[in-house]
Amino acid sequence: TDNVHIVVAAGSGSRYGGNLPKQFCDLAGRPLLMTTLERLHSCTPEWKLIVVLSTDMTDEWLGMCKDNSFTLPHIIVNGGATRAHSVKNALSIIPQDSSGLISIHDAARPVITPSLISAIIDGVEGCDGALPACAVTDSIRLVGTDGNSSAVDRSKLRAVQTPQIFPADKLLKAYGQELLPVFTDDASVMEAAGYTNLRLVDGDPHNIKVTNPGDMAIAELYLSLI
Ligand code: C5P
Repeated sequence: TDNVHIVVAAGSGSRYGGNLPKQFCDLAGRPLLMTTLERLHSCTPEWKLIVVLSTDMTDEWLGMCKDNSFTLPHIIVNGGATRAHSVKNALSIIPQDSSGLISIHDAARPVITPSLISAIIDGVEGCDGALPACAVTDSIRLVGTDGNSSAVDRSKLRAVQTPQIFPADKLLKAYGQELLPVFTDDASVMEAAGYTNLRLVDGDPHNIKVTNPGDMAIAELYLSLI
């Protein structure tokens, strides 16, 4: 098939601390990114894998693959200044006339499950795309530039996860627009291009983005439970 997963792994992981970006740190005995790629592959074995890496990590990653006998085929693309630019670089190697689906997944979300991926793929049918979203459990306040804040009705809010999956032709068109700093995920890029028929499917609270120190241990625990 023409279907492809783009795994964005070109971030510096500044919130995580340490020398290495979190996607290369140890999860259950080897770099986290390997678990993410293997789990995506086992859910959808026929989908191609594109991994976006910063240029200064590429050789290091290839060394890690060698050291860990990690041989799962994947295409490496250079990252950009922002997540959206990293996605755009990956899209540049996909044929313009592709009729498949494109999934974009954060490298830092290793606890991805077959049932979530299937639900998102099913959700794309008849829509401009589908993405996993979860109810917000914290109370939320909107903070103004003056430092004042006000309560927000959290029942109207959803926290969105990845993978987000879109028809290739629409995603490629959407990424032709100017990429703004507010585009922190792909649904926001699609929406700004007029593709507003996006289906939210129930996200998985275990599908965390490893962000802060301590998240790695939580991800490892979740992986042992599923
Ligand atoms: O910073 P944030 O956690 O939102 O990043 C989400 C994902 O995007 C991470 O997997 C990160 O590696 C990736 N990213 C990227 N290129 C950038 C910035 C972030 O591939 N320039």
